Amino acid sequence: MVKIGILGVGTVGESVAKILEENGDIIEARAGKKIVAAKGVVRSLEKKRDVSIPLTTDPLEVINDPQIDIVVELMGGVEEPYALVKQALKNGKAVVTANKALLAYHRYELQELAGDIPFMYEASTAGGIPVIGALRTGLSANHIESIQGIMNGTCNYMLTKMINEGAQYDEILREAQKLGYAEADPTFDVGGFDAAHKLLILASIAYGLDAKPEDILIEGIENITQTDVAFAKEFGYEIKLLGIAKKVGEGVELRVHATMIPSESMIAKVDGVMNAVTVVGDRVGETMYYGPGAGGDATASAVIADIVDIVRGNQGPMLGYKKGLESGLKLLPKEQIVTQYYLRMDVSDKAGVLAMITSTLGEFGISIDSMLQKPVSDEGRAKLLFTTHKTQEAKMREAMQALEALDVVEGKIAMMRIEK
Ligand code: HSE
Repeated sequence: MVKIGILGVGTVGESVAKILEENGDIIEARAGKKIVAAKGVVRSLEKKRDVSIPLTTDPLEVINDPQIDIVVELMGGVEEPYALVKQALKNGKAVVTANKALLAYHRYELQELAGDIPFMYEASTAGGIPVIGALRTGLSANHIESIQGIMNGTCNYMLTKMINEGAQYDEILREAQKLGYAEADPTFDVGGFDAAHKLLILASIAYGLDAKPEDILIEGIENITQTDVAFAKEFGYEIKLLGIAKKVGEGVELRVHATMIPSESMIAKVDGVMNAVTVVGDRVGETMYYGPGAGGDATASAVIADIVDIVRGNQGPMLGYKKGLESGLKLLPKEQIVTQYYLRMDVSDKAGVLAMITSTLGEFGISIDSMLQKPVSDEGRAKLLFTTHKTQEAKMREAMQALEALDVVEGKIAMMRIEK
């Protein structure tokens, strides 16, 4: 029998305990041994929980218990779980975690510490989708050219409702929280940080790239308005929060932002809490992984897959490589990203304004792809919406500053990137 200790018995932890019990027969058949949740750690014993395993508030009762074979870390946070999983590894226990923030900051130290002790994290990225396994093993014959995907279920759920039903931002965020999709602090979801943590994990497996969240471009969905949604519909785009890793020469672009993508693309059709990740390998070509990106049972499904792998003895090196990987590749500075852009600005509606704006864009070498003017109910104002041809991020930032300095432009310009 294999005994599991669970640090953090919340939505996912409860599901892990329940699935191990309710699907115990099939799990035992696959793993070759019976697996039981033996102990759970919670912050408070007062709160009612839907599990029958013994609970404690002291994580050391799990970490230092010689009876526990595998520690499952589902607490969230960074430094507290880091200290605990380090101790678990020192005690020789295998670790399974769903904690992407922990890995975004400490994956390389953990790889070093784990050595030959299994350390698995399938549930950290894209919930129930086995995309880590695909990258660590399934695609190991390939140089990875790009990874692009919807990696945050909360944002995708919110955007789907905003676009299809015109739902209000705050109301749908509350709904996503109630459904157990959102992080304890939902700014991690809507600000793009959760997706960035996942992207960094995938980029480590694909490229061996040791970047931190602070090093990469991260934007969320907070500034998207119904004007952007209407423009996107009119011009044949869907709006998705994407994580993008792309090899460009000897560099790798890593970025998370709201993105306009052609409505006919496969990823544009991924709605609600579903995630989808496209990985392009130099030999296999394009592959795509689709499934629920958040929620108790979906995430627990990935946690248990890792446990089964460990029990079978299948684990390999934590990040999927034993020697330096793609050693020449460097993180491309944010300013050097090249893509197409969408701009939304409020302007005075008078003669010569459009010419002033287009000539400012022209001064920075930015070529306009399409343009739309919408009247605003106030007299004398209008909304101008542009898409541009490909240009460099640094140029676009300078052009936006120059435009915002014009008297005819009111307030800040909203910007979104376009990927085709
Ligand atoms: N808050 C995350 C999401 C949970 O919405 O995708 C899964 O990592």
